[in-house]
Amino acid sequence: MKQNIMDIDTVALDEENKALVIIDQTKLPGTVELISLTEAKEIWDAIYLLQVRGAPAIGVAAAIGMYVLAARYDTTDVNEFYKMFKRDKEYLDSARPTAVNLSWALNRMDEVCQACIDYKDSVEEIVSTLHNEAITIREEDVEMCRRIGENGLELIKPGDGILTHCNAGKLATVKYGTATAPIYLGQEKGYNLKVFCDETRPLLQGARLTAFELQESGIDTTLICDNMSAMVMKNGWVNAIFVGADRIAANGDAANKIGTSVVAAVAKQYGVPMYVCAPSSTIDMSTASGDDIVIEERKAEEVTEMWYEKRMAPEGVKVFNPAFDVTDHELIAGIVTERGVARPPYSESLAQMFKAE
Ligand code: MRU
Repeated sequence: MKQNIMDIDTVALDEENKALVIIDQTKLPGTVELISLTEAKEIWDAIYLLQVRGAPAIGVAAAIGMYVLAARYDTTDVNEFYKMFKRDKEYLDSARPTAVNLSWALNRMDEVCQACIDYKDSVEEIVSTLHNEAITIREEDVEMCRRIGENGLELIKPGDGILTHCNAGKLATVKYGTATAPIYLGQEKGYNLKVFCDETRPLLQGARLTAFELQESGIDTTLICDNMSAMVMKNGWVNAIFVGADRIAANGDAANKIGTSVVAAVAKQYGVPMYVCAPSSTIDMSTASGDDIVIEERKAEEVTEMWYEKRMAPEGVKVFNPAFDVTDHELIAGIVTERGVARPPYSESLAQMFKAE
């Protein structure tokens, strides 16, 4: 029997073989293939090539990946172990710059590693602690997304039309997704939501991933090209927009997949509220505003040739291919986290959210 994508782990640890196991998202929706990774270069490539992608999933993959690598270091000397750990941590951190969850998860692994060293633990004990931290990060992701879903569901009503951009779905997290969490929870409650997925040029995460997972889940799904969102909003078919984020600055500016800020500007024009759904680990209070967020630029071929049978742009044409853009906080109606929904002014509500830390 064909397995539903929702029942397959996006990111997992194969305990027996000490391997990071991911769904290779570059093959979706045509082929569902799990790949098993144990080497630093393989894990780096998987993140860079978007075999595992979406900010929370990248963070979980990096945490499990760090454990997998550390479990293989052939030394009992703690200093030597930590040198190798630091080398691999920095290497994995260089795979993609925009999603803060990558460095957030790696820093968490580093902090527990350092605490073990301070405590004079053996290498074996450190590896065991790293294992537990990676598992905790993964479990927390499921819990955080579920709570994002509960908080997001309060913002919509049965029968609503929802528009989403890129894939902030189950495939971008361990389960539920962030932007899709209210949609999945709504489905559990019989909300009968109608979801519009932007196809999301140039890498088609909306078409290949979001439309796929929503449809497999039995949700009323309509795929549109990116340049059709104004039309569906003008027609009155969209009651709310849910998107994810890769990094949210302290003032509420949110970096997400390229094109998100266009959706936000159009949403303002048509009076549709735009909500950014993200775990608190995506909020980077050390980044003051969107101007300070590093935006990844990717290869020109993603725009000129990828997906086409033959190249669709003149040879030698200049190409600008930023993978993300920043939505100005003024265009965001709420930031939906596991801790609650932050409202403008974000410099105050986000500071309040992190006050106890
Ligand atoms: O380049 P990608 O596919 O990793 O970009 C993903 C996004 O922009 C998502 O919307 C974001 O990471 C949030 S995922 C819950």
